[in-house]
Amino acid sequence: MSAQETYDALVKECKELSLLASTASILYWDQHSYMPPGGVAFRAEQLSVISSLTHARFTDPKIGDWLSELEGSDLVKNEESVEAVNVRELRHQYDKQTKLPTDLVEEITRTTSLANEKWMEARQKSDFKIFLPWLEKVVDLEKKKAEAYGYEGEPYNALLDDYEPGATVDDVIEVFKNLRNDLVTLLQKVKDAPKKPDVSIVEREYDVGLQKIFGESVVASMGFDFNEGRLDITTHPFCTGIGYGDTRILTRYNPNRLNDALFGTMHEAGHGLYESGLDKVTHFGTPMGESASLGIHESQSRMWENQVGRSKSFWKYYFPQAQRLFRKSLAGVTLDDFYAAINNVSPSYIRVEADEATYNLHILLRFELERALLTGDLKPADVPGEWNERFKKYFGIEVDKDSNGCLQDVHWSAGLVGYFPTYTLGNLYSACFFNKALEDMPDLYEQFERGEFLKLREWLRNNIHKHGRKYRATKLCEKVTCKPLDYKPLIAYMNAKYSEIYGF
Ligand code: CO
Repeated sequence: MSAQETYDALVKECKELSLLASTASILYWDQHSYMPPGGVAFRAEQLSVISSLTHARFTDPKIGDWLSELEGSDLVKNEESVEAVNVRELRHQYDKQTKLPTDLVEEITRTTSLANEKWMEARQKSDFKIFLPWLEKVVDLEKKKAEAYGYEGEPYNALLDDYEPGATVDDVIEVFKNLRNDLVTLLQKVKDAPKKPDVSIVEREYDVGLQKIFGESVVASMGFDFNEGRLDITTHPFCTGIGYGDTRILTRYNPNRLNDALFGTMHEAGHGLYESGLDKVTHFGTPMGESASLGIHESQSRMWENQVGRSKSFWKYYFPQAQRLFRKSLAGVTLDDFYAAINNVSPSYIRVEADEATYNLHILLRFELERALLTGDLKPADVPGEWNERFKKYFGIEVDKDSNGCLQDVHWSAGLVGYFPTYTLGNLYSACFFNKALEDMPDLYEQFERGEFLKLREWLRNNIHKHGRKYRATKLCEKVTCKPLDYKPLIAYMNAKYSEIYGF
């Protein structure tokens, strides 16, 4: 076969595998929206068959041979060509998937499924001892996984790469440390500030039907196309890009809190716009048609949720509409008071309930701990003590029980070590990208005040979405903003916002 023929065969195979995987996405979406509870065991069997089928086909030695042949051909000479990008990224995925011995994969699946059950029990009883032997097993297996992948520097790099391809601790460590120090200072200022928002404004009665109407109108104005997407209800909100012309977002409503569904829906719609902005018509099934990383994905959701949805300009347009819809709860409330309420900062134990400012401190604490667990500097038995000590230092409050501390997250029990940093990377990237968008469109906030968001969507499409995985995240950031990843834009944005709201 010529190199071109080999490449075409590779792409054809990848497209078929992605078509298979996308049917799994539909099944997963259905499971979390409409499926009756009784279908759970059967659905697990369906999903497991598809996943072993795709894994077996993708790790077939034939794929490795094709990649080797292509790597030596003229077809990939130009590093930025579609062919070179796809071969580079498929090689990366192929190596990772073939490096893990089958018995290790099976042991991880078995152990994490039991660890997950024990974690749930431990969290419910707030008893770390129940989870400890399982955490020890998981950490041990994650270490083995890192060894099987191979790495430069420390083992954490091997695991981080699963979620943020190409990223290393060295890339992020300085940025994270500086961010943490500045956030601790910011929190202290907020704590000592003379003004405090009245959060009760957003914790009144908010009719779910009206919340739904409001949320749909907001995401439609963001440019989320309901002809090529859906918004449904679930317990843990997420977004899934099925294929071209089909992107699903899911949210949940709380009748006594306005923020949850509104910002949650904008968040998932931000993910959805990224999915639908990828060039799936041309590149479906290949890395050129896939997102750059979880961090970049999260930058898109966070930008719409925070930089847009929690901005004053956004509410200059939407507050009068919200007042008309939620007559009783927002009667007599001023725009300024409402704006302060949706931006309230308050240190609390639980990450998923955290505000925009404290959220990253939750992540950085977890990142520091899991890194130390992998190097062996921290023993699993010492996790609660270490957690609580750092929590006190960063948040200024004592953890009262482990279910409010080290037992709150599902990640470690599920074997997702190395995942947490992608949340904070998302926030950092979103601030860097948004600054650049403001530079390119100085009237962006005036556009928001008029209810116009499509130019921002276009900007994101042209600068970020359409590239797929052409550039790794750090390089994409440099391409778009002309600067490496930095913590300063995020801190500057927060300082500006909170100094106005809190009067410091
Ligand atoms: Co997200």
